[in-house]
Amino acid sequence: MSYPNQVLIKEVGPRDGLQNEKQFLSTVDKVEWINQLSETGLSYIEVTSFVNPKWIPALSDSFEVATRIKRKPGVTYAALVPNRKGLEKALEADVDEVAVFMSASETHNQNNINKSIEDTLPVLEEVVQEAKSAHKKVRGYLSTVFGCPYEGAVSPEQVERITHRLFEMGVYEVSLGDTVGVGNPLQVEKCVNHWVDTFSAERLALHFHNTRGMALANTLVGLQAGIRTYDGAVGGLGGCPYAKGATGNVATDDLVHMLEEMGLNTGVDLPKLKEAGSFIESSLQRPLKSHQMEIHRADL
Ligand code: HMG
Ligand code: MG
Repeated sequence: MSYPNQVLIKEVGPRDGLQNEKQFLSTVDKVEWINQLSETGLSYIEVTSFVNPKWIPALSDSFEVATRIKRKPGVTYAALVPNRKGLEKALEADVDEVAVFMSASETHNQNNINKSIEDTLPVLEEVVQEAKSAHKKVRGYLSTVFGCPYEGAVSPEQVERITHRLFEMGVYEVSLGDTVGVGNPLQVEKCVNHWVDTFSAERLALHFHNTRGMALANTLVGLQAGIRTYDGAVGGLGGCPYAKGATGNVATDDLVHMLEEMGLNTGVDLPKLKEAGSFIESSLQRPLKSHQMEIHRADL
């Protein structure tokens, strides 16, 4: 079995990690956390989302966060946008790149962004075109690719069809999301190998939620299929408020630990990452659930 020497980790903690938090974390703490993450060797951080603050109150200070963070050269600071209004704010904040998002299942798409799949496509297409004319790269997310909390099974052909549409619009990469953490390694192997054959491994990323503890096993399968880009959130924070059961993302610290132990280079300094985890833990006033953060707390 061959594995890539280099793996790119995209940290989504400040966005996916915080969007589901009940308490409002202060702007000062968000900015400090992102500044700490910037010093860990991570080269990509999704810092916030420019969505309707009534839908995601936890990130209602997106503009302040995006404009107050210290930008470290070489790090890409990205933000999630659902529509033109969000893009305008993201451009005003001058984020480095934007990410558009939609779901492979109709009901999750409707619940998450209040539109059918067919009605979402032209909205995203407009965002991609405008972002590109403003010289911003655009990433695409496709959610519920291994299963939907409302509809259950999602067909790999449906995932393929929408991924194709996203690439046609001009996104440079599609991050395939296991939004509620239901994918199992054999399912992931079968589906991902098929999508890699269709789109190529270079253009795909994987976004695992660890709801049922399968994220690292699924990551291994993704690596075997040749995928080199993985999303994670420090300490396993995260979840989508419009997908029941969508608990934390795969923990970036557990991901870095596994990859580095396997001899695959991430460029991320694990002790520094855990320090950043400790900071957000004390801001949120609760322990983070990842293995590495537990080890860190126990000083093992
Ligand atoms: P809508 O209500 O259909 O929007 O929401 P609308 O266009 O009809 O406008 C209604 C109101 O919203 C108007 O305000 C707009 O100005 C305002 P009013 O006139 O009533 O005062 N509005 C906005 N305000 C700020 N920023 C905006 C914006 N757009 C409209 N961008 C909308 C549609 C998409 C906006 C809404 O459904 C929404 O914000 N949804 C976001 C949900 C979300 O953020 N979910 C979590 C992220 S996705 C995820 O976690 C999955 C992922 O991690 C991958 C995975 O795990 O699978 C990416
Ligand atoms: Mg997610």
